[in-house]
Amino acid sequence: MHTSRPIVVLDFGSQYTQLIARRIREMQVYSVIVPCYIPFADLVRMQPQGLILSGGPSSVYDPSSPTADDRIFGLNMPVLGICYGLQFMAHKLGGRVERAQAREYGFAQLDIVAPSVLLEGLPSPLRVWNSHGDHVVALPPGFKVTGRTANAISVIENPSQQAYAVEFHPEVRHTDRGDEILRRFVFGVVGAKPDWIPRSFVEESVQRIREQVGDGHVVCALSGGVDSAVAATLVGHAIGDRLTCIFVDNGLLRQNEFEEVQTALKEQGHLRVRAVDASARFLSRLDGITDPEQKRKIIGSEFIRVFEEEAPKLGDVEFLVQGTLYPDVIESVSVRGPAATIKSHHNVGGLPPDLRFKLIEPLRELFKDEVRRVGRELGLSEEVVGRQPFPGPGLAVRVIGAVTPERLRVLREADAVVQQEVRRAGWYNRLWQSFAVLLPVSSVGVMGDARTYASTIAVRAVESEDGMTADWAKLPSELLERIATRIVNEVQGVNRVVLDITSKPPGTIEWE
Ligand code: XMP
Repeated sequence: MHTSRPIVVLDFGSQYTQLIARRIREMQVYSVIVPCYIPFADLVRMQPQGLILSGGPSSVYDPSSPTADDRIFGLNMPVLGICYGLQFMAHKLGGRVERAQAREYGFAQLDIVAPSVLLEGLPSPLRVWNSHGDHVVALPPGFKVTGRTANAISVIENPSQQAYAVEFHPEVRHTDRGDEILRRFVFGVVGAKPDWIPRSFVEESVQRIREQVGDGHVVCALSGGVDSAVAATLVGHAIGDRLTCIFVDNGLLRQNEFEEVQTALKEQGHLRVRAVDASARFLSRLDGITDPEQKRKIIGSEFIRVFEEEAPKLGDVEFLVQGTLYPDVIESVSVRGPAATIKSHHNVGGLPPDLRFKLIEPLRELFKDEVRRVGRELGLSEEVVGRQPFPGPGLAVRVIGAVTPERLRVLREADAVVQQEVRRAGWYNRLWQSFAVLLPVSSVGVMGDARTYASTIAVRAVESEDGMTADWAKLPSELLERIATRIVNEVQGVNRVVLDITSKPPGTIEWE
């Protein structure tokens, strides 16, 4: 049961849907995303205080276009349509939508043309971010136009029905004052209260987990990352020592990570942690493997084997905690609505189909920054909640080519230097990720009077909001210099350090 009623976002498949919920939760108002085709009774059961219809890639006249139950407009509650959501609303309520002669993608200028609830007090014109091919040519009864762009009716409103819609994307940062437009809907029209804070999330989750688990036993696989740490701590809060965590050393963790994470989670999260050193078997299965995807598959399947051997030792365990986050879910499968599948992901896709555990995924609705806030609320230190993401396959995808104990040693030492110096310079929290990569390239150098022929380390540091796109970080040259000098001086086997200055896209963050 939620103490606060949600603003429900119906997902018609836009790539921006997740941003809508995120912006609303930034206003400390509880918001969830559901697929547009959610059964009407299920929607009503959620007791929304308002609805938002997301954008989508389709045309309302396309027979396969996503649709929602017509009764959503009869709920006597505020509704905001965005882009496809506007067209869907206009179409369903008796207006007319047509394929536009001039499609609008990118920036457009919005003129406020009549007194408006959504745009009240905002300057005109505003620069707004569009991406639509269709537009409204006849309004549904009771609606008026309050905003226009050169090519389209852009804002329509019917206050007596509490129905509002915009053709552009207020949730995207490119739109001027987009947040204010959403705020007018959330606070002005819906009348929501900013009461969704990490504490209420923790309280609600604890209650839900207790209901789900009853007096059962739960296991959680820790990865060393923020997500599994927060998920485990949250479940630990709910059911105490009926949760056991398994932390597997796959031999691919960073320097001292295995010990540090265990200590932190025992002390701060009060978790029971069973540490399993399986590094030898992981490294032996990786012997001679150079293909990145094959590395991932081997690590994934070996992990499952270790886990399946360890879990029965804990007795009768019925549930498994996973730290799956919202971006993992949307990147993996279109479980939420019609959003196109982007890529498969370790967390979600890597479990065996015959998994005999019931899943607990308490963070499934959250974004990374929200997980960090929840972690702080649970008493985890900055050291734990501020950790940069680390991929499941660990250093194996940062040792380019063959994974050997010696090459892992080189990478681990170089990576430790990057971590220390980035932290010391105060950059750690500004970066999404910063790390070292060991290249399969040797080159000539000179140290003292001797010629060297040794390996190359690449330094990778990126800024990003969610890992889906990223900019290479413009680290100060003094910091880069310290990193390079220390690596070449301290790490045996390295005589050259290079900097990766590729953004994503077209690069990826990891090298493999
Ligand atoms: P890329 O390299 O695709 O990475 O730009 C995006 C984000 O995902 C992380 N990553 C992974 N995480 N298993 C994971 O759990 C993986 O196989 C994997 N590959 C990449 C990467 O560190 C970055 O944060």
